[in-house]
Amino acid sequence: MTQTLTLRTPDDWHLHLRDGAMLRAVAPETARHFARAIIMPNLVPPVVTGADAAAYRDRILAALPKGSGFTPLMTLYLTEDTDPADLAQAHADGLITAVKLYPAGATTNSASGVTNFDKVRPVLETMAEIGCPLCVHGEVVDSDIDIFDREAVFIERVLDPIRRATPGLRVVMEHITTMQGVEYASEGGPELGATITTHHLVINRNHILAGGIKPHYYCLPVAKREEHRLALRRAATSGDPTFFLGTDSAPHTDANKLLPCGCAGCFTATNTLSILAEVFEQDGALDRLESFTSLNGPKFYRLPPNESTITLTKGAPVTYPDHIDTGDGPVTVFDPLMPLHWRVST
Ligand code: DOR
Ligand code: ZN
Repeated sequence: MTQTLTLRTPDDWHLHLRDGAMLRAVAPETARHFARAIIMPNLVPPVVTGADAAAYRDRILAALPKGSGFTPLMTLYLTEDTDPADLAQAHADGLITAVKLYPAGATTNSASGVTNFDKVRPVLETMAEIGCPLCVHGEVVDSDIDIFDREAVFIERVLDPIRRATPGLRVVMEHITTMQGVEYASEGGPELGATITTHHLVINRNHILAGGIKPHYYCLPVAKREEHRLALRRAATSGDPTFFLGTDSAPHTDANKLLPCGCAGCFTATNTLSILAEVFEQDGALDRLESFTSLNGPKFYRLPPNESTITLTKGAPVTYPDHIDTGDGPVTVFDPLMPLHWRVST
C-alpha cells in the first residue's frame, strides 16, 4: 500500500534568496514546496531600511515562476544606525515581519552588524513595544572563544542579558546547533522561539572534517558534536511549539565554496522536505512533521497556518539534481548521505 502524508503547506522561517541571477535560480526551488519564507537581509549592501525591503520584495516577486503564490516575509538588517521610526513604520505597513541581528563579523556579509549592543537598545525597545520579532544569529565573534563554543557563550553573555533588559521582546534563536541552545529555548516561554535547519539534523562536525575537508558541509554556526545533533533531533521531532523549521538554505556557487577561504552555507531548498520526512520517519515522529514545518512557525509569528496542503508519498529512492545551474555558476545541492524515499507529489 502506498504510504502518503498530507501536511499544511510548509513555511521556511529562515531563508537566503540572494539577488540577481542567483535569486532567479534559487527562488523557484523554495516556491515549489513552501508558501512563505522569512527572507534574510544580508545582501551586499544589506537591506537596512523599509525602502530597501520594499525594493527587495519586488525583485523577489519578479523572480518567482508565473502563478506562484509564494509570499516573501521581509526582514531588516539591524545596524547600530537603524532608525526606530523607519522600522516601526515598515512593520506597521506590513512590509517587514522581523528584524535580523548579526553580531558584526559572525558570518557572511555581517560586517554592518552590531558590535556595541548598547547602541541598539532603543531599537530593541521599540520592537518590544510594537511586537516585532528579533531573529538572532547567536554566536560571539571573540577570537579567543573556540568556534564550537560560540553559540553557548553568546546565550550567556549576549542573548540572556538582552532579553532581561528588554521585557516583551520576542526573539527567535536562529539555526540553533547545540544542546545549550535547545535547553535555553525550551525554557524561554512563549516569547522565545528557535529555528532548526535541515542540515543540522543530519550532519555533525565529523561530516565536515573527518576523512578530508568537505566544504559543502561547512556552514555557520558550524555543525557540532554528535550529542548536539541528537539534541536537535529530539527538539525538532518533539512537537514542542518552541521549535520550527528555518532551513537557512544558503546558496553559494561552487567556485565560492571551494576556495582556500570558502563561504559558509548549505543549499537545501531543493530536497529539504524529502530529507525532513526521512529524518522524522527514522525517529518515529512522522505525525509531528507538520508541527515542525507548518504549524509551530506561524504560531510564533502570530500568522495563520496555510490553508493549502502538500502530499508526500513514500516510494523508490527520490532523485534530485546534485547541483542547480545559476547565471553565476553551479550551486551544489546538499547531499544528506542517505537515500530519500518521500517525494512531494502535489
Ligand atoms: O552558513 C551560513 N550561511 N550561515 C549564515 O549565517 C549566513 C549564511 C549565508 O548568508 O551564506
Ligand atoms: Zn542564515
